[in-house]
Amino acid sequence: MNILCIGAGYVGGPTMAMIALKCPAVKVTVVDINAARIAAWQSDTLPIYEPGLQEVVSACLGRNLFFSTDVDSAIAAADMIFVSVNTPTKTFGQGAGRAADLQYWEKTARQILANSKSDKIVVEKSTLPVRTAAAMQRILDSGGGDVKFEVLSNPEFLAEGTAIKDLQNPDRVLIGGHDTDAGRRAVAALVGVYAHWVPRERILTSNVWSSELSKLAANAFLAQRVSSINALSALCEATEADVSEVSRAIGMDSRIGAKFLNASVGFGGSCFKKDILNLVYLCETYGLTEVAAYWQQVVSMNDYQQDRFVRNMLGRMFNTVSGKRIALFGFAFKKDTGDTRESPAIRIARQLVEERAQVVIHDPKALANAKVDLRDLGDLVQYEPDPYVAAEGAHAIALMTEWDCYATLDYQRIYDRMMKPASLFDGRNRLDHAALYKLGFNVYCIGKTALSHL
Ligand code: NAD
Ligand code: UGA
Repeated sequence: MNILCIGAGYVGGPTMAMIALKCPAVKVTVVDINAARIAAWQSDTLPIYEPGLQEVVSACLGRNLFFSTDVDSAIAAADMIFVSVNTPTKTFGQGAGRAADLQYWEKTARQILANSKSDKIVVEKSTLPVRTAAAMQRILDSGGGDVKFEVLSNPEFLAEGTAIKDLQNPDRVLIGGHDTDAGRRAVAALVGVYAHWVPRERILTSNVWSSELSKLAANAFLAQRVSSINALSALCEATEADVSEVSRAIGMDSRIGAKFLNASVGFGGSCFKKDILNLVYLCETYGLTEVAAYWQQVVSMNDYQQDRFVRNMLGRMFNTVSGKRIALFGFAFKKDTGDTRESPAIRIARQLVEERAQVVIHDPKALANAKVDLRDLGDLVQYEPDPYVAAEGAHAIALMTEWDCYATLDYQRIYDRMMKPASLFDGRNRLDHAALYKLGFNVYCIGKTALSHL
């Protein structure tokens, strides 16, 4: 079997590498219009940082895993085509700021139609609004020729930073297909691919629309948990309750579960906000105003949490950060990735610059992306590969990303070279607050009483 994936990004690259690893008899090709990305996939410096990815790619590259920019020929040769292009939030026209921008996705549908001379199974891997498969089927059927296309939905649930683990051992694989002979045959073919390594009981099949909606729903539920605990973190700060103790207490209820209850400076990443806004827009399109408002609040609470963090910094630093050096530790939206899309650090850095702070950013993997995100700020922001240098002369450190390396720094050395009083704002509740306080820091966390010498 020849499998093709259109889109060699955070999903297309790792997902196809795993299929190639687990299915040595299948030829897997990944194409992209971005030539630099395709070249990077074939080099020692992959275009994305993901623990364990290099090993998986190296094991298959040139054996049954190939990267190319020749999209047309690859389509012609494929039996099954995954579409894993980006589906960002629309920035223009109707639905701007909420609806999904489907232009990249539609271009691929037309390109598949134009280059297909044999029947294909087309798999939606991108996250898409419910009923997009119907639109795709209509475009593919508009050629009027003999070639038959069967569209499946197979959303991806991997999280960045743990993508390889998630792909190797997924909680479930979801495949949506039509209840027709051709639909059932296509579903069986895709089940057959995953069955090479995923236990059969974890491969779920459903109708196409349930599959499309389940992806949006899963992200909405996960983000809702983060917003719920973040909402409570504000109340904890006002009442001397401790959000970690509250998380622990509620998480031990097996009906609630312990995961995704870490209060933070807010959720980031390319998908939570985009997918919830997409859900909100869909609900409004169907006239479900109250349902739309319910989910919108998850995003609004996340904005509030980030703004609250900066407000707190200002308040704790005598209502002015003007001219003060502030070191941001971390810029990625979570640890173990270089991805900074929608990272809370972007909004926070911008607000601090607006307050005329001298912002210095350190991140072990995301400095290149940070420079792109903040390029319009020019030299109002500094980028520093050494955390000790970043903190030198600073009035405050703000932990933005929970990278393990920040827990093991020599904070005595850092404290000695900072301006006094030295503040540490832990936006992830990951550092040893009592020890930092003992060193002399004023420590401000999320959802906990401040440890301040002032
Ligand atoms: P990405 O931006 O990293 O990758 C998308 C790639 O598609 C880009 O390299 C782009 O050049 C390419 N592309 C766009 N149009 C093309 C075309 N016409 N022909 C060939 N290539 C084209 O995006 P991503 O993070 O991999 O996300 C892809 C989809 O998967 C999105 O819908 C996203 O919501 C979903 N998703 C992402 C994650 C994640 O962790 N990033 C997880 C689950 C689902
Ligand atoms: C998320 C989902 O977890 C994946 O299942 C999904 O496939 C993916 O979105 C997607 O569709 O793109 P990802 O965004 O990569 O994955 O990372 P998460 O681990 O979900 O973290 C998202 C954000 O929430 C991060 O900023 C993280 O720091 C934050 N978070 C997470 C918290 O603030 N607290 C928590 O308890 C958990």
